[in-house]
Amino acid sequence: MYDKLLIELSRPGHTGFSLPELPEYYGGAESILPSSCLRKSELDLPELSEPEVVRHFIALSVKNHHIDKGIYPLGSCTMKYNPKVNDVIASLPGFSSAHPHSPADCVQGTLELMYDMQNILAAISGMDSITLQPAAGASGEFTALLMMKAYHKKQNRKNIIIPDSAHGTNPASVALAGYNMVKLPSNNKGLIDTEKLASVCDKDTAGFMLTNPNTLGLFENDIEKIATIVHESGGLLYMDGANLNALLGLVRPGDMGFDIVHFNLHKTLSTPHGGGGPGGGALGVKSFLEPFLPIPVVSRKSGKTEKYTYFLDFNRPDSIGKVHGFYGNVAIAIMAYAFIRQLGPEGLKNIAKTAIINANYLKENLKEDYILPYDSPCMHEFVLSGDKQLEHGVKTSAIAKRILDFGIHAPTVYFPLIVHEALMIEPTESESKQSLDYFISVMKQIAREAKENPEIVNSAPTNTPVGKLDEAKASKNLDVCWKSKVYK
Ligand SMILES: Cc1ncc(COP(=O)(O)O)c(C=O)c1O
Repeated sequence: MYDKLLIELSRPGHTGFSLPELPEYYGGAESILPSSCLRKSELDLPELSEPEVVRHFIALSVKNHHIDKGIYPLGSCTMKYNPKVNDVIASLPGFSSAHPHSPADCVQGTLELMYDMQNILAAISGMDSITLQPAAGASGEFTALLMMKAYHKKQNRKNIIIPDSAHGTNPASVALAGYNMVKLPSNNKGLIDTEKLASVCDKDTAGFMLTNPNTLGLFENDIEKIATIVHESGGLLYMDGANLNALLGLVRPGDMGFDIVHFNLHKTLSTPHGGGGPGGGALGVKSFLEPFLPIPVVSRKSGKTEKYTYFLDFNRPDSIGKVHGFYGNVAIAIMAYAFIRQLGPEGLKNIAKTAIINANYLKENLKEDYILPYDSPCMHEFVLSGDKQLEHGVKTSAIAKRILDFGIHAPTVYFPLIVHEALMIEPTESESKQSLDYFISVMKQIAREAKENPEIVNSAPTNTPVGKLDEAKASKNLDVCWKSKVYK
């Protein structure tokens, strides 16, 4: 029977059997299944027409907010437009139907792409070697810390220094990796105080985790001095690369003195994220850290016919081991690769420049209406404080909800922690001048409402499918199960 099937399938032009066709080919379901397992009556499935199904899902999709629907100025998250062609490329059958257990010679194309991607990311970051394995930014941080541990193996260095503006995943990764955290207060410009840094760097310092530009959207001008201080103490300098969108093609972490950097492929390189991933937290390191990279590393060797062959190198005795099942989220790497190859070096540079111009345009237009605690040119994002509105009884959380009424996703709020009533705004390069102007007009209107009629802001949102929720009740009496009563 199988022979018959194979002959049929191997005929030129045969595109395969669809599932319902198969039993028929074999001579009906009766020839495969015992009669006791066969259905005696028709299955009573609900009948829906295609338009009904399409309308149902479209209606659901427009109830939600997403980047294809409107502005998403979520600071620190880089919610840029994800070109659809990235998905088309990642869905090509050669990529999407490859099994993770496929032998290397059956997936040479995918391995070549991964190898190429490693080289491209090394060139973008100024690092020597890359792993694509970590699943997201936080997973890249954790991998980097494990590599630091392996590097300092004999020295028992136990501290990691983190600025007080850092993203919450930084201290969490430090704790997870078994290090102590040393918190470094920022100076009055929101930047690293190099004297304070020098005073905490010592023989116990394993490394310094720094986000540049930092979470206030400010570039650390003293970065070379910072690198010298950390290196003189014997520590490693790690860059949280979540904000790399501001640097693409302009400056490279490797040239600034960083020893390790993680990418957020799902932010900077335009692959989907949110809802916990899956993302891509590729990690770049200088050559002296290369032996510690997670296994496997995608490598290349020259074959007999002078053709290159690509393989997964597991033979790495100093490796920290695996940090992800198989080889990481390969489809995310493919989408990011497609994005990079379409834009080229000049396109990448334009991303950073446009993101910076867009953020400064918003900042300059909003600083009269909201407090701007650090008034200096910003990179790709900036942070306002809602303290002026708080004087009228309007909290930043209410401003965030009122923004939803205008078809805009709320900015990141209450982070970074060093800004009171923080509103962290990142427009990205995706937004046009019209859309930035719309955002400005909405923010100005909300500032006016907060002053003249705070109730409008405090009772928002009123235009969304779900109105204002009772947050206290929701946190104390959480019941998120749809129709939960039915199942009890
Ligand atoms: C500065 C910074 N570091 C790290 C992360 C963590 O990245 P991920 O969400 O991919 O784990 C984020 C995420 O928003 C971030 O903004």
